[in-house]
Amino acid sequence: RPRLLSGMQPTSGSLHLGNYLGALTQWVALQETHDAFYCVVDLHALTVSPDPAELRERTRWTAAQYIAAGVDPERSTLFVQSHVPAHAQLAWVLSCLTGFGEAGRMTQFKDKSAKQGSDSTTVGLFTYPVLMAADILLYQAAEVPVGEDQRQHLELTRNLAQRFNSRFGETFAVPEPFIPEETAKIYDLQDPTAKMSKSSSSPNGLVDVLDDPKVTAKKIRSAVTDTGREVLFDPVEKAGVSNLLSIHSALSGRSIAQLEADFAGRGYGDLKKELAEVVTDALAPVRTRTLELMADPGALDELIARGADRANEVAEQTLATVHERVGLVARP
Ligand code: TYM
Repeated sequence: RPRLLSGMQPTSGSLHLGNYLGALTQWVALQETHDAFYCVVDLHALTVSPDPAELRERTRWTAAQYIAAGVDPERSTLFVQSHVPAHAQLAWVLSCLTGFGEAGRMTQFKDKSAKQGSDSTTVGLFTYPVLMAADILLYQAAEVPVGEDQRQHLELTRNLAQRFNSRFGETFAVPEPFIPEETAKIYDLQDPTAKMSKSSSSPNGLVDVLDDPKVTAKKIRSAVTDTGREVLFDPVEKAGVSNLLSIHSALSGRSIAQLEADFAGRGYGDLKKELAEVVTDALAPVRTRTLELMADPGALDELIARGADRANEVAEQTLATVHERVGLVARP
């Protein structure tokens, strides 16, 4: 089975609908056909200087949501990034192959650092994509399921893999992004030109997986649309309605064309009402299961520890090869 790796940051207690549709539902499907590694990237989350106690809790909540959404820890390797020291170690080696300008061209870094100003922008934020490359390359992942916002980081990962291979000999698999178009970018409900994100300007723009279903329904009913009446998929003229149709289609399995036909002659209110049901029906069981898993943190920690054992086995092998190739002396 081809290898696959992906991860999410534990920057908030709950994942949001963009994480869920853009990544998590793909992960669950892909574990059937792939040898999948799914990690909670807690080292990446340090770039936003979280409160220590909160980071620890959020890491567990994130892992619990993976399982609750259907990641099977028996079939896939579920682990926490910091439990596998090779991630930080490989990141160092790769950082010595990454151009300063190359890292500076990452749009996510440019956006975030521009907002923060250079005094509060850390070196960690700058080298973040190199750590992400290490996450992927350690496992020789052939594919990486992510949302559209990670495409450029994947491109950097591919470049680093190829650069290393041509300088030191074939070592890394060069990974392909796996970004299904329909769910590549879920938009903010209040500002359908911006992606749904934890740093969203309005809390109503974001549906959290762990929100109370009543809250979720309310957010969807108050989603921004346009002044037209017809339910049609047109991302330019009808960004809000199109986003709602994408979400509906991804969760209900009905095609966009089918939904347009079903809603012909009906208004936006009907679409929102039905979508609220579709979303809460999908997320309610994930929420319930997450709460159950969090009620037994010992069992959860044990699952994660087993994942770390398996991940370490694979990662240490790759790291040993890398160290040997670049000329580090092996410890006898
Ligand atoms: P993160 O934690 O911001 O997001 C986790 C996943 O959710 C996707 N996503 C979205 N998809 C569609 N629409 C949206 N509005 C939306 N918002 C987020 C992201 O694309 C991502 O797939 N750097 C990564 C984490 C990471 C990683 C890795 C991913 C670290 N190492 C190795 C893959 C492989 C990040 O910050 O994702």
